[in-house]
Amino acid sequence: MEKLTQRKRDLISITDYTKEEYDHIMRMAAEFEASPNQQLLQGKVVAVLFFEPSTRTRLSFETAINRLGGRIVGFSDSNSSSVTKGETLHDTIRMVSNYADLIVMRHPLEGAARYAAEVASVPVINAGDGANQHPSQTLLDMYSIVKTQGRLDNLNICMVGDLKYGRTVHSLLQALSQYQNPVFHFIAPPELRLPEEYRLYLNERDIDFAEHTEFTSVINQADIVYMTRVQKERFSTPMEYEQVKNVYILRNSMLANTKNTMRILHPLPRVNEIAPDVDANPHAYYFEQARNGVFTREAIIAYTLGLKNI
Ligand code: CP
Repeated sequence: MEKLTQRKRDLISITDYTKEEYDHIMRMAAEFEASPNQQLLQGKVVAVLFFEPSTRTRLSFETAINRLGGRIVGFSDSNSSSVTKGETLHDTIRMVSNYADLIVMRHPLEGAARYAAEVASVPVINAGDGANQHPSQTLLDMYSIVKTQGRLDNLNICMVGDLKYGRTVHSLLQALSQYQNPVFHFIAPPELRLPEEYRLYLNERDIDFAEHTEFTSVINQADIVYMTRVQKERFSTPMEYEQVKNVYILRNSMLANTKNTMRILHPLPRVNEIAPDVDANPHAYYFEQARNGVFTREAIIAYTLGLKNI
């Protein structure tokens, strides 16, 4: 007789989840924000494997696990793992599946997280794979948008900077495309233009978007200005990075005619694309956005492990 097994729930691409699941996770995030310490992970071990540097994603996942009463194994630098001896990603993930109930992984190669999910016997959460996807960031970005705008429908969203390599942009535009009437303005130099596959994705769904190379006038209509860092680590030569590294810098003086309700988001880290004088402006929301990461990641962990019903 055929054995019925429940498919494990990974989070690899934001498109793996439905709009109903986004909304469900955001409701859970609100519940965790109201009550962050819940012993849902007692007796469980989460492996946190970072093959690429991180501050926010790793620490907010680890904070979330601690707040849920779980335990953590893993590494923040793959140089301290047997990868340096030549162990493959396949073998690393097979091994870690033996130890942990859930794997949170960041890796520099696009597709590495999907591969890990295929190999692993436990759920895998993609904490960023190269220039591809960063779905947990997207869910915290959406939670931040709901908190500041009260909705995800009918938004005017400006995405600024490195739209080629910026994985947070790729995940976020796909998620927001599930809601009513988004209007996207993509502001990037030609070298960092949004890749064709994402322009096709929007065209196929009749989503309104425009591309620009300057942003001073465009931001006045925006509900959300989503700034991004030029991703130095993804360029093939230092010269190519030097040519675009200072392309857009958002300054306080540029915000005078923006909507009162507009909020500036940035996945962080920033280099110089938001001047420090913006930090005290009421439009700035990026540090609160990073705080929202803890509650959203508590929700993602609880959801992928099926630990909580709301
Ligand atoms: N937003 C983000 O992914 O930041 P880290 O690289 O510090 O994790």
